[in-house]
Amino acid sequence: MKSFEPALELVKDYEAMSEAASEYIAGIVKEKPDAILCLPTGETPTRTYLLLAEKFRRGEFVTDRLTIVKLDEWVGLPMSDPGTCETYLRTHVIAPLHIPAEHFISFESAPADQEKEVARIQHTIDALPPFDLMMLGLGVNGHIGFNEPGEEVIGPVHVAELQETTQHHSMVRNSPLVRFGMTIGLRDILRSRHILMLVSGKGKTEQLHRMLKDDISPAFPATHLRKSSHVRVIADTAAASRL
Ligand code: F6R
Repeated sequence: MKSFEPALELVKDYEAMSEAASEYIAGIVKEKPDAILCLPTGETPTRTYLLLAEKFRRGEFVTDRLTIVKLDEWVGLPMSDPGTCETYLRTHVIAPLHIPAEHFISFESAPADQEKEVARIQHTIDALPPFDLMMLGLGVNGHIGFNEPGEEVIGPVHVAELQETTQHHSMVRNSPLVRFGMTIGLRDILRSRHILMLVSGKGKTEQLHRMLKDDISPAFPATHLRKSSHVRVIADTAAASRL
């Protein structure tokens, strides 16, 4: 199987990673004001989104034609729960960047029928061109989005059974236990025009090493990114200390 080396940008710390990432995203949006961005939540991208919002306020780019796709969502929490990816993206991206409501594609966090919900999202993104930017954080278990270890296929949008480490992710630490997630699948992730993976801190040192050096396998989903020739990794010195 053909594999590629991701472009690796090493920076000093979390702040420098966030600056480099916000600069990169702003560049994509300036070049293509109707870009489709599929975005993660979590601790890693928070400062990046803040810096991006500052650039927007300074008038560096416009957002009225952008489309934002929510990468994943915890199943079962009310949409307005502080732990949902919905609340996170509305707070850090949708509101500060003035994204029009009809340009936000987003899983319902507590749908009556999860399978119908993932089919609805797949149907919606199938009608769009590939994402211009797929941004990712790296899970402590190697997941990307909620594509969890052990899932066999490069599949579509789906409901994922979450491993224990994921169930204890900081976002849902104070929420009732969440056992399932809905996620954009590896198929659409790998089709994206640009994939940006952000990795920061010594808690991700092993994971970054495995993503770049392990055999490509479902045991560590992030290794699948090496099947795309469009991956950029921005990592800080702490995360990169084993490379
Ligand atoms: C969240 C998501 C997850 C996180 C990953 C890293 O929307 O897609 O895959 O990116 O769990 O989380 P942090 O950044 O909190 O370490």
